[in-house]
Amino acid sequence: MKLAVPVRQAVARMRAYQPPLEGRSGRLRLDFNENTIGCSPGVRRALARLTRTQVSMYPEYGPALRRLARFFRVRPEELLLTNGTDEGLRLVVDTFVESDDAVLLVEPSFALYRFYAELAGTRVVALRYGKGMEFPREEVLRALRARPQLFFLANPNNPTGTLVARNVLRGIREAAPRTLVVVDEAYFEFSGLTVIRWINRYANLIVTRTFSKGMGLAGLRLGCLFANCRLTAALRKAQSPYAVNVAALAAMEAATRDVWFIADYVRQANRSKQELQRGLTRLGVPHWPSAANFVLADFGARAPALLRAFRRRGILLRDRQTDFGRVGYVRITVGTRAQTRLLVRALEKLWPS
Ligand SMILES: Cc1ncc(COP(=O)(O)O)c(C=O)c1O
Repeated sequence: MKLAVPVRQAVARMRAYQPPLEGRSGRLRLDFNENTIGCSPGVRRALARLTRTQVSMYPEYGPALRRLARFFRVRPEELLLTNGTDEGLRLVVDTFVESDDAVLLVEPSFALYRFYAELAGTRVVALRYGKGMEFPREEVLRALRARPQLFFLANPNNPTGTLVARNVLRGIREAAPRTLVVVDEAYFEFSGLTVIRWINRYANLIVTRTFSKGMGLAGLRLGCLFANCRLTAALRKAQSPYAVNVAALAAMEAATRDVWFIADYVRQANRSKQELQRGLTRLGVPHWPSAANFVLADFGARAPALLRAFRRRGILLRDRQTDFGRVGYVRITVGTRAQTRLLVRALEKLWPS
């Protein structure tokens, strides 16, 4: 049937974003970089304690904002709670980008940067990571001279796992006083590198964090965005009033108390990453160093069959061929050491020596 009303041209031009989200429950989920052991027991208890009244009320954000501000050591005005980082990214585009502006990306990267830029009908200027997954620093500095309105940078980057060092970030920020630089620190718990402390030094810096990865709350959709008060005031103006729900607030409060749980999980994941990398090296599978809770590997032409074989064994990995334009690239989330050992044992059986 024909559409009664035509969609906006920007939407008509876009390719749909369809991540393989269905049928994952009950499997070993090494495909979306989630926390593979679930949220902390404290989060479960906090959710169970939610009262009928709390559920029936629109959420109040003051106490949660104050708690998070203490946790991250910023002022409450420098912080915005968002419905996942995804909402934060969209909010930045909605607030600051006109359709004739340019948005700078370095790809492959998190798909939603391009998605929101295209949705806004802007011009996307996309540079590429090198063959060895090097960050194209000089090209970025050159592209910034054309003053794009926005530069999205995931640090560490997904799916390459690469981390841009603090001095390079400083150079980028200083080369681009008229560009909003969004540093997405979704994998901070694993990399340990943050530039949150810079938000008051630099008027054009926005930092985003998520509770979806190390913190184990992906299903509740909670992220936060940090910037100086002027930027957050503008962003707040464009945000839906109740974007974050009351269950996410209760879970956040408990998660920020259960820091031991997160620290223990991160320690395990970082150790099992080394184990996975050793396994891949032993089997002769090319892979890249990673500062996040995943490893990008190149299984060549056998990747599609391998992914299917893993799926039959109940292990989900993420096919990243569309990022690189050829089969082979697979992103593997690391979880506990037991989970990684299971994966490596399966790989040893499936991968011809
Ligand atoms: C770099 C990066 N940013 C943001 C997200 C999404 O975060 P959220 O679940 O908070 O929307 C992801 C998820 O894969 C990611 O890899």
